[in-house]
Amino acid sequence: MGNENIILLSAREIEKMRQVGKLAAQLLEHLGKMVKPGISTYELDQEAEKWTQQHGAKSAPLGYHGFPRSICTSVNEVICHGIPNKSQILKDGDIINIDVTPILDGYHGDTSKTFFVGTPSDEAKQLVEVTQECLYRGINAVRPGGRIGDIGAAIQEYAESFGYSVVRNFVGHGIGRTFHTAPQVPHYGKKGTGKKIRPGMVFTIEPMINIGTWEADVLEDGWTALTKDRKLSAQFEHTIAITSGGVEILTLDK
Ligand code: MF3
Ligand code: CO
Ligand code: CO
Repeated sequence: MGNENIILLSAREIEKMRQVGKLAAQLLEHLGKMVKPGISTYELDQEAEKWTQQHGAKSAPLGYHGFPRSICTSVNEVICHGIPNKSQILKDGDIINIDVTPILDGYHGDTSKTFFVGTPSDEAKQLVEVTQECLYRGINAVRPGGRIGDIGAAIQEYAESFGYSVVRNFVGHGIGRTFHTAPQVPHYGKKGTGKKIRPGMVFTIEPMINIGTWEADVLEDGWTALTKDRKLSAQFEHTIAITSGGVEILTLDK
């Protein structure tokens, strides 16, 4: 990822991306309503798979480089790529990121949100609110003719103003017929650097923000990434398209 050429999507393809983006947003909304103390991450996964099939789509994560489930569920100190599990029961005060990527007609829609389980601590609430704002500040930094580095610069400045850190080893990515392709979209960096942003580009912005260190460990399962200091991490993700008119968020339920 990152070194190959950036694929520009046609208007027809962006319309396909709108359709799958809307479906992804609806799936995420549906799963978010199920988040309550007592539910397992496995039950969320089973519902995601069933709902996706019922809507004529496929779950991109299932079998992706061997990933065993249909969604990622990343609880508390897990940064990303948490694997749904029968014995993982959500409890009051947890935070959970649910990351969904349906494929419809060959095109991928990738979106995630962090949800509160019951009542959050003040610490968790602020982290999650700031992380969501980081996503929107990143999106607002995107301009046709601008640079990919503008996005990370906006996110990093805001996150660090709260004393938080920005995860380095996972980044946003180009998306379309392929799940992960060029460009890489870091959530830290310098304004005016990186690849030029052009109409036809479609990519994700998905900041992962930590209360403590940005450094990560990956568990023996080869997937679950968690903070080295085991402090909380939150994430929000949208898939966006650059059109001649500007920037469009594709993963909205509109
Ligand atoms: N949806 C994740 C992303 O935002 C990727 C998950 S890959 C998986 O890029 F294999 F873990 F599902
Ligand atoms: Co995702
Ligand atoms: Co993504």
